[in-house]
Amino acid sequence: MGLIPYENEKYQDWSDEGPREKMRAALAGVGGALGRSYPLIVGGKRIETDGEIASLDPSDPSRVVGYAGRATEREADMALQTATEAFGSWSRTTPEARARIMLRAAGIMRRRKFELLAWEVYEGGKPWSEADAQVAEAIDFLEYYAREMLRLKDGVPIYAVPGEESRYFYQPMGVGVVIAPWNFPTAILTGMASAALVAGNTVVMKPSEFTPITGALVAEIFEEAGVPDGVMGYLPGYGSEIGDYLVSDARTRFVSFTGSMKTGLRINELAARQVERQRWIKRVIAEMGGKDAMIVDDSADLDSAAADIVKSAYGYSGQKCSAASRAILHADVYDEVLGKVVERARGLKIGAPESADVSVGPVISEPQFEKVSGYIDVGKDEGERVLGEDPGDPKNGYFVPPTIYAGVDPGAKIAQEEIFGPVLSVIRARDFDDALKIANDNPYGLTGGVYSRNREHLERARHEFKAGNVYFNRGITGALVGVQPFGGLGLSGTDSKAGGPDYLPLHMLARTVVERF
Ligand code: NAD
Ligand code: ALA
Repeated sequence: MGLIPYENEKYQDWSDEGPREKMRAALAGVGGALGRSYPLIVGGKRIETDGEIASLDPSDPSRVVGYAGRATEREADMALQTATEAFGSWSRTTPEARARIMLRAAGIMRRRKFELLAWEVYEGGKPWSEADAQVAEAIDFLEYYAREMLRLKDGVPIYAVPGEESRYFYQPMGVGVVIAPWNFPTAILTGMASAALVAGNTVVMKPSEFTPITGALVAEIFEEAGVPDGVMGYLPGYGSEIGDYLVSDARTRFVSFTGSMKTGLRINELAARQVERQRWIKRVIAEMGGKDAMIVDDSADLDSAAADIVKSAYGYSGQKCSAASRAILHADVYDEVLGKVVERARGLKIGAPESADVSVGPVISEPQFEKVSGYIDVGKDEGERVLGEDPGDPKNGYFVPPTIYAGVDPGAKIAQEEIFGPVLSVIRARDFDDALKIANDNPYGLTGGVYSRNREHLERARHEFKAGNVYFNRGITGALVGVQPFGGLGLSGTDSKAGGPDYLPLHMLARTVVERF
């Protein structure tokens, strides 16, 4: 297949009036389409359910973005059965034909980009640039995995003994259950589903109950791109109602999950138990949480360090698994960096992201608002609050102001647990050794950063920083597909790397076939 070389999708330049105008038009268009219903999709048919999920705008919870179907075990059973029946023909469809469908889905997303961004603003509470990066990432996943499938379609070279031919190649696995979080509702759902699909598997996609409408758009785009009926099911529902059923069922061959550590561990445990009629060990690909740290040593460019700490801590209100939630500062530069971080964070504009100049929107939901507010209370006993105030009434939107606790002990709750909100814990380190030790003393291991001009420090961190993605002298969020394969160590997941060269084989079965001549 002739394709241009892979390239990351470009971001919008919001200083330009052109994209701003398109975005305003898209917000007006989507704003007029709120409140519609989105039934389940199984076997190409729209399936109505008894219950529904009302998806609310986190900036204004009185506004319903849309009503999604609410699957029960009955519909989950139907979706698994349909995906099982569709596997035979889809797994025999050529890799080229499957790749073309993914490329077409990328084309559709590009054409509908501003509309998709507008839905992200309303349903996810995302500022424009965050929504843009997210949809660009979804497009990148489609483009990258299509090319990866073409690279792997004939297997990989191996050696043979004289007189024999040895072949090593990959085959599709079966039905994959794709379970997504709300924080990257287009990118992560698209990424997990497209990897599974292009590899020849059928999927049941369960979006987060907080972003089911974005999930419906992804499903619609896969359909429009030509994913045949039955190959992809759209199954919005509550994890607590259908999660265990989907994971435990004998027809499920693998689970591709992104979400919290707690849910990931439960899925891993349930998937490991063999049930009646199950003829395989289920594979679990789980990407989980983080408690990510940025270290600044005494040789660093302190202005850049402060700017990148703020960007990494407060982008999408800190609701990224990759977000900086701990700043570990060398004692000699502690006061100066802290001062710069506070000053920059104070300048962030908080508000409803329909407006172009908002840099910090709401958190996603009332439970998330309560959870983050709870940690802000805990922080009062664990550090000195140098920025932020108590959040207001959630009825007026789930807004939490950027918050900084200084002088936090490395073992404190707010320095150890994933808060997933705009709360930064600042920790003083005696020296670089101490800083690295503090950074690593955490069960997670997703992203991490070091700001330093000291080559020895950087080389040590290259090998010793316990994180799947380590960044030097830059921010620690926004990994680019194909450029910064993404995934964590420790309790941040099953060590997979989304958007990297090892990812597709996780969705396939490797075969060795030897013929003697
Ligand atoms: P969550 O674990 O609450 O939910 C994730 C998904 O799992 C949802 O679709 C939910 O309905 C489903 N679910 C819940 N219970 C289930 C069960 N028993 N069985 C099966 N599915 C179940 O997470 P969330 O709040 O949606 O997402 C935020 C979390 O995701 C954070 O911890 C964040 O760090 C993590 N995350 C990780 C990555 C990564 O790449 N490592 C990326 C994004 C988000
Ligand atoms: N891949 C996303 C990031 O790097 C989570 O921010």
